[in-house]
Amino acid sequence: MGAILIFDSGLGGLSIYQHIRQALPNRRYRYLADSARFPYGELQPQELIDGCVARIKQHIAAEPVDLVVIACNSASTLVLEPLRAEVDCPVVGVVPAIKPAAAMSHKKVIGLLATPGTVRRPYTDELAAQFAADCEMVRVGSSELVWLAEQKLAGKSVARTALESILSPFIEGHADVVVLGCTHFPLLREEIAQILGPKVRLVDSGAAIARRVSQLIGDIGASDDGFSGHYFHTGEKPGPQVCTFLAQQGFTSIEKWP
Ligand code: DGL
Repeated sequence: MGAILIFDSGLGGLSIYQHIRQALPNRRYRYLADSARFPYGELQPQELIDGCVARIKQHIAAEPVDLVVIACNSASTLVLEPLRAEVDCPVVGVVPAIKPAAAMSHKKVIGLLATPGTVRRPYTDELAAQFAADCEMVRVGSSELVWLAEQKLAGKSVARTALESILSPFIEGHADVVVLGCTHFPLLREEIAQILGPKVRLVDSGAAIARRVSQLIGDIGASDDGFSGHYFHTGEKPGPQVCTFLAQQGFTSIEKWP
């Protein structure tokens, strides 16, 4: 049986991988970080679509997989349809958890914390119109926060002042639920929660994605092969702290790809 391929621009997809691995501990995992093109939130839509489709197709042509998870909101809001048209296996995407956030909000003011690309996508507007029409939505798009998440895993401290300034629109706008609409941001959940305080609930899509993957893997009839984890990256090799973190996450190899 093939592996589950998890794809992101960098380390953010690990927040999704952690949920999937918890649900499906005895599977083979391949993680592809397109770090050469990081950060995705700054790429033009067509450039993002073409690069993601090409890389994933090339990767699974070399090593077939049972299922692909686009563990990136910035990519999923654009790439799902073109990719599904090109590959045979199921493709699961991660999009901002606007629907549960709207249902949870008492004040009917929700925050969307995502990349600059995701906050302005038509896909996001459609989610908001469909599921949060009764809510005001405060949108913050930040690539700086994506960098801060990568730096945290590289062992650097996260400056509280930088976080305060990025998150201030949610405090000023009185949001009571904030959507972590980028897979990098659950990696900073504690730091974000400290600034927003206990009255602001943070929601992400990790658990829902793990449930969806479990369901599809069952439908495919894939069997448990025993766990293995292999990490691939397109850009620079990750630094020593990140390599240690990846080993703790179960990855036994880290390879430049292709
Ligand atoms: N982790 C990604 C997301 O969910 C991409 C972040 C980036 O590369 O800008 O949007």
